[in-house]
Amino acid sequence: MTEIKSTHLIHHPYVAPKEFESPQGALYKASTVIFPNVQAMKDRRWQDKSAYTYGLHGTPSTFTLEEKLATLEGGSYCTLVPSGLSAIAHVNLAFLRHGDHVLVPDNAYSPNISMLKHLLSNFGVSFSRYDPMSLADFKAKFNERTRLVWLEAAGSVTMEFPDLVGLCAASREQDAHFKRTPEHRAILALDNTWGAGLAFNAFELGVDLTVHALTKYPSGGGDVLMGSIVSRDEETARALSNAHMFLGTGVGPHDVDAILKGLQSLVLRYEAQDASARFIAAALMQELAIAEVLHPAFAHAKGHAHWKSMCVTAERPEGLAAGIFSVVFDSKYSAQEVASFCDRLKLFKIGYSWGGPMSLVLPYDILSMREHPGEHLVNRQVVRFCIGLEHSQDLLDDLKQSLALL
Ligand SMILES: Cc1ncc(COP(=O)(O)O)c(C=O)c1O
Repeated sequence: MTEIKSTHLIHHPYVAPKEFESPQGALYKASTVIFPNVQAMKDRRWQDKSAYTYGLHGTPSTFTLEEKLATLEGGSYCTLVPSGLSAIAHVNLAFLRHGDHVLVPDNAYSPNISMLKHLLSNFGVSFSRYDPMSLADFKAKFNERTRLVWLEAAGSVTMEFPDLVGLCAASREQDAHFKRTPEHRAILALDNTWGAGLAFNAFELGVDLTVHALTKYPSGGGDVLMGSIVSRDEETARALSNAHMFLGTGVGPHDVDAILKGLQSLVLRYEAQDASARFIAAALMQELAIAEVLHPAFAHAKGHAHWKSMCVTAERPEGLAAGIFSVVFDSKYSAQEVASFCDRLKLFKIGYSWGGPMSLVLPYDILSMREHPGEHLVNRQVVRFCIGLEHSQDLLDDLKQSLALL
């Protein structure tokens, strides 16, 4: 070698001793993966995750995170993508063909509906929004071309908890009605972000796959975007990993590292944020300005019985729920008054997302988001709260000081 340092600095002979252990595992970074020889380069297969070929196809860090997430959700295979919305897009792109029809709940995470409406329609895919609280409506909208069924529990913003067991069974009944072979039946895809793999076991319902916006609870920091798709069946997993390869949607190593760290405290944070949200929601129910609290663990909530049957167990009689809920203001308050209520909050910050350390608030124009908004939401302002890790009493005091000025 020359005496010029550039080569020495890249091919330095020093090798650190191998024996090293610390609470956090090593972080592996790669676009290029180095093969020991040409034959190894030819022999390696990334599809079955038995070896490494290119950063996009996996590193020890991404494989480790995928295994942990598959375990969390009760599935077998996992694909990591750059955001929760990207996970939804991968499912749509992996399974839909020209002429296919999709069923999506009316209260789904709305960018999924926008994707179907404005992007997938260009490729000859049609969709219908179904009332997640009506099996009859679901069955009526399921047609012979329905290839993909989206499920979400609880629903976005309005928090209705659907009969997931009934919807899965109704989908299989419709498959039988249209005399479909097992490989042609509709794919059941659940957005499992709210349950986070903790509140209930999605795969016991018979869903084919779950998507999870890791951006929320698994990250827990409000600073990382990532999504996952978990499945149990090998063929479903292969379709997803092929879509992932064709689209080239890799995830960054530092983000993977952050999610791996977030998973270590996931259960504690989820439980704490649930308890805090329920404490605050119960207190807000006593406020005159609030007409209704939308949270599936409360007895009056739409779908409370379904939440109870899925999220309450003998070991956990109080059940589990994400730390997120909405309130419906009394009809006498205008959108401007409710916006001012949000602006006056000091601890709650105005922003999208949930599952982070900082409590968030957002007003929603529900009428513009739904085909069939419930009667109770017409002409009323809806505000969603995402409860963080601040002290519950401080958060409640903050809400009360702003309510008092309404
Ligand atoms: C239920 C649900 N699914 C998916 C997403 C999308 O996640 P991301 O923000 O990582 O794209 C969100 C984001 O708010 C969500 O609430």
